[in-house]
Amino acid sequence: MAQTSKIVLIGFMGSGKSTIAASLAPKLGFDLCEMDTRIVEASGLPSIPAIFQEHGEAYFRALESQVAKSLTNIRHVVISTGGGVITNSENMGYLKHEGLVIYLKATFATVCERIGDISTRPLFQDSSRALSLFTERTPIYESFADVTIETDGVSTDALTRQIVSTLENLR
Ligand code: S3P
Repeated sequence: MAQTSKIVLIGFMGSGKSTIAASLAPKLGFDLCEMDTRIVEASGLPSIPAIFQEHGEAYFRALESQVAKSLTNIRHVVISTGGGVITNSENMGYLKHEGLVIYLKATFATVCERIGDISTRPLFQDSSRALSLFTERTPIYESFADVTIETDGVSTDALTRQIVSTLENLR
């Protein structure tokens, strides 16, 4: 774990993975990798909703796994995952390979507040279904986390500083 240069952010939709990854990567001098962007690129379609609409969730998950596999040996990178990446343990095998997994934890109320525009999230169209997913996934995020960061009410800058100092303490 020490000296890791592959940082993997996991957490539910709206937990702040993309925002924190974009803030953290330059602080560490690492590249930023957005898994959802890579999935969209691999699909040849314009967006995540378009992938779900044209081909369904199973197709999206297959692309997500291909992308996760392609990141097995990547280094000097902060990876922002999609919220459902943890539903396939093989994905986590690829991502955890010489990587440090940081779980960005937030309450359901916070993720609802942060998400705002739900149109880009096919699995957040119905809030009671989203709450079930949240409840189902919480123990899975916890089981894969090397480090858990509570994000409720904490600014991006403060979270970034907290993660940088956590990493320094691990070294
Ligand atoms: C998903 C989360 C999304 C995206 C897709 C599926 C999920 O990413 O990968 O819509 O299953 O939770 P974000 O967590 O960045 O919203």
